[in-house]
Parts: sequence; structure tokens; C-alpha cells
Amino acid sequence: MDEINEVVEIPFAERKYLKENNFKTMKFFVYFLPFLIIFTYLCAITFNTHLKKKSSNISNIENIKNIDSSILGHLPYEEINNEDLVFIEPHIWVHKDMSDALLKMRKEAKKDGVNLIFLSGYRSIKLQEEIFYSLKSLRNQNASERARVSAPPGYSEHSTGFAIDIGDGSDRATDFEVNFENTSAFKWLNDNAARFHFRLSFNRDHKNVDYEPWHWRYEGSIEALKIFEASNRELKNATNLIN
Ligand code: DAL
Ligand code: ZN
Repeated sequence: MDEINEVVEIPFAERKYLKENNFKTMKFFVYFLPFLIIFTYLCAITFNTHLKKKSSNISNIENIKNIDSSILGHLPYEEINNEDLVFIEPHIWVHKDMSDALLKMRKEAKKDGVNLIFLSGYRSIKLQEEIFYSLKSLRNQNASERARVSAPPGYSEHSTGFAIDIGDGSDRATDFEVNFENTSAFKWLNDNAARFHFRLSFNRDHKNVDYEPWHWRYEGSIEALKIFEASNRELKNATNLIN
């Protein structure tokens, strides 16, 4: 009898009903969530576009600043550190990042029977100063006239180590002359230089500097591309205006 009267706790499932308020909240979320996701997505896109626009404005401003700091149509260039220069041959030193491409280009040209010779590579700002001022007075030219053929000190691509003046070993009379463009060396460069990441700096469309078919710059590294970014934009704008 005692056993029958013993109180035993029997587990049982308890049915719970959602409170009316909780149910409403869930319903709200089920309907509202897709809109919330779409809204967040749209906000993210708008924000991203805004950021891109802002950064492109900043880089335009940077570019304008860069162009504003130009002198007589030449952009400013810092002088390369000595430890980044490598010797190619007597009087020709260039940026270490470009030396392999330059030598390879000369070798490939030779295979095609073309004799590329290097006339001028790295030039210190000091040397550029001598070139700019001595020749300017020798030719009785004012600074603006001289700047069409020679960059003021601190404004030459040659001081970066990424520029090279090239001649034709079979026609030395065309060294630094516009008729270098009629040589087999120039024709070969025109057809092949881009394969080695070289491009002509001062083409016929350049508004500030006279045409220099012998002057090529290297754009095969990020450092070089950064250095010539403002110049490339100017060249692009000039081309767009012409077309
Ligand atoms: N001849 C080019 C413009 C220079 O002097 O860098
Ligand atoms: Zn040059």
C-alpha cells in the first residue's frame, strides 16, 4: 500500500504556446529580412561607389598637383639612389630593374641584324644642370626654348635611371637627331621595344617637348610605372584630345 501512495514524478511533454508578441516579432522578421538584406546590399554598393569616386578624385588631385609642380612642361623626378644603379658599359649606368630588359633587347636586335647603341642612361641632377644651363647659353636660347629639347635639373627622366637614349651603330650621324627615326634601329625599336617594356617618352604629339625618337623609358616594374604615372596620364589626355 505504501508503494502505491508513493509520489513519483512522471516526465511529460509540456506544450508551450508562443506568446502573441513573440509570434508577431518572428513574422515581422520573416517578411522584413529580405528587404533588410537588399537594403544593406544596396547601401554597400553605394558606399563602395562613393569610396571609388573619392579615391579617383584624390588621385586626380594628386595628378593635378604633380602637373602643377611641373616646370616648362617637365614633370619633377627624384634622383635614383646610387645603390640602385648598375653599370652597363663605360658612361652608361641604369636602374637595376631595367638592366636585364635593356641588355636582352640589344641582344635580340642584334639577332635581327640591328646594332643598338646606348648614348645616355642615368644622368645625375648635377649633370642635368650642366647640360641644361651650358647648352642653353651656348645656343643663346631662353629657358622655355631650351626646355623643348632638354629637361631642367630635377625634371629629367634620365635622373630616375629608367631612361635610355639609343642610337644606331650603323648610322652614327643620326645620334640625337630626328632623322634617327629613319634608321633600322628606330624601326626595330618601334616594332619591338614594347616587348621589353620600353616606350617612347616624347612622341610627335607631346605638347611641351620636341619629338625625341631616341629617348625611351622603361615601364616594366611597378616602381617605374608609379614614377611615370603622371606623365602617362598627360600623354593619354593629349592623345584623347587629338582623337
Ligand atoms: N631630353 C630630355 C627631355 C631630357 O633632357 O630629359
Ligand atoms: Zn634622353
